[in-house]
Amino acid sequence: MQPRLLAAGLASLTACAPPRAELAPDPHSFAEPSRVRVTHVKLDLALDFGLRVVRGQVILLFERPDPEAPLVLDTQALEIASVTGPDGRRRDWALGEQQGRLGRPLTIQLAPGDDEVAIGYATTAAGEALQFLAPEQTAGEHPFLFTQGQSIRTRSWIPLQDTPGVRATYDATVVAPRPLTVLMSAGTRNGPGEMVGDAGVGLWRFRMDHPIPSYLIALACGELESRPISERCAVWAEPSVADAAAHEFADVERMVVAAEELFGPYRWGRYDVLVLPPAFPYGGMENPTLTFMTPTVLAGDRSLVSILAHELAHSWSGNLVTNATWGDFWLNEGFTVYCERRIMEALYGEERADMEALLAWNALDEDLQRLEPWQTVLHIDLQGRHPDEGSSWVPYEKGALLLTRIEELFGREAFDRALGAWFDEHAFSSRSTGNWVAFFERVLFSDYDAVIRQLELETWLDEPGLPVSARKPRSVALHAVELELARLGGGAAPADLATQGWVTQQWLHFLDELPDDLTARQMGFLDAAFELTGSTNSELTAAWLELGIRHGYGAIDARLEDFLMTVGRTKFLKPLYEELVRTEAGRARAREIYAAARPRYHAVSALTLDAVVHGE
Ligand code: BES
Ligand code: ZN
Repeated sequence: MQPRLLAAGLASLTACAPPRAELAPDPHSFAEPSRVRVTHVKLDLALDFGLRVVRGQVILLFERPDPEAPLVLDTQALEIASVTGPDGRRRDWALGEQQGRLGRPLTIQLAPGDDEVAIGYATTAAGEALQFLAPEQTAGEHPFLFTQGQSIRTRSWIPLQDTPGVRATYDATVVAPRPLTVLMSAGTRNGPGEMVGDAGVGLWRFRMDHPIPSYLIALACGELESRPISERCAVWAEPSVADAAAHEFADVERMVVAAEELFGPYRWGRYDVLVLPPAFPYGGMENPTLTFMTPTVLAGDRSLVSILAHELAHSWSGNLVTNATWGDFWLNEGFTVYCERRIMEALYGEERADMEALLAWNALDEDLQRLEPWQTVLHIDLQGRHPDEGSSWVPYEKGALLLTRIEELFGREAFDRALGAWFDEHAFSSRSTGNWVAFFERVLFSDYDAVIRQLELETWLDEPGLPVSARKPRSVALHAVELELARLGGGAAPADLATQGWVTQQWLHFLDELPDDLTARQMGFLDAAFELTGSTNSELTAAWLELGIRHGYGAIDARLEDFLMTVGRTKFLKPLYEELVRTEAGRARAREIYAAARPRYHAVSALTLDAVVHGE
């Protein structure tokens, strides 16, 4: 995030922030769950691909600890048509002023005895969760729609209490044109959705019986097929992608089994994976029972499946035990990265997990140099800021390093027991950093005063940067790469390096660690020896394209343009545009490509990239 935008974002949020008393404990939601608390969400929606809107009704069921209180909901760019009580009569409601990127509070006056309201509404083009894709943005001939709720975008397609501190069950009926399939983050007995209805339209029903936070309600609709992997796992994708997707994720059942052995029973019934079109803005999203996945992980050789391990791990860390607010985001992501590495180790061995840990350490290291101190605090203060501003490798890798350090100090066995108990005793609840500290103090730290002093927990949680006790991972296989890099630096020709049998992680390290002063000519030699411009591995391609821009290597130009026009994954796009805008000519090129590409990006990517391409 650019400092300038950061400041602007801050101003836009704080300038119109509501008086403190009106703020819920979650600074990113207008909801007041201690007064009225939603317990069930009932959706009845129609997907309109022509107008690119979703419209229909949501019925919210709630408890009322404070019978006098109105129901305050979060909305962003929604058109509210009607609000009625259980008697079918209108209830008074008002949409408050737009409050920065938080959207507008919808305040509903309840009648005594009301335990539900029905809200008729429609989404608008300015909503940040939905992305409608034209057929040419898909692998087939039909349009596509998906939602991305995390962190605070569900409010742009459902008016509700959009805070991870509130959990609700949900059910849904969704009408969509044939022959499209609708999927939601709600496994039902017959698979992830059940079609009823007849000619012209499909009517799909879903039910999620476990209480989940709002950011995990998700929907996708397109021409989709599934390939079964096991009793409880299937892979969904557009027809022409389905076989490749099933091949890439063939280990998914083994991963679930490994995760269950490590963290306790998988409690969600099905675990399916949906591969989206390339515009999907993230690597993966842990929507319960149905992980959303970028197609850029389909490398053909399963070399990038750690993302699958990551999203699966969220079935415990994040979905079962959820961060209470976005300031506790590290509880979701740091735990998940730790768990992801344990799954990778169990399935593919220690060396693979070590390589990934070291690559991630290096990424974190770069972030720590680039970010402002407040952004490098694990238990981050996001008051007055958009949750996306806290997103970096810090909650992920610093969080995982903290857990690795605890494991090291207390031993794997004791740590695993504490971790399992954390998931088990807090299943289907939302927890804060303070809750976690108190729990671990009780179950793990209590008998070890000296060790806990050594841990310096407050430093880890509340101070910027990385404590000196953080352990840099070691990897034998990546060390071998460094030896070859040294030979390259000593004048060896690329083709003479001992690269036979290198795996993707080694190539990534090789590209990461190439000397800064490469010439375009030397880039050409590397390309000739290793066919990097022609790589079909998205991680390698992204890293190589970045180097190509930096060192003025024109042979990548066509590949770069194609990549920027099709891929929507922010993690890849941001560094590429950042690298482009460093020079005058590059900036002109970035603006030209961006003008054409922006309409094809999700709001998540576009909002980030606007600042990169058009910021100063
Ligand atoms: N839950 C995140 C994605 C996310 C985070 C969406 C914050 C919106 C706001 C997901 O589990 C994730 O971490 N995805 C990573 C991949 C992972 C392997 C590091 C991504 O998309 O890059
Ligand atoms: Zn994650």
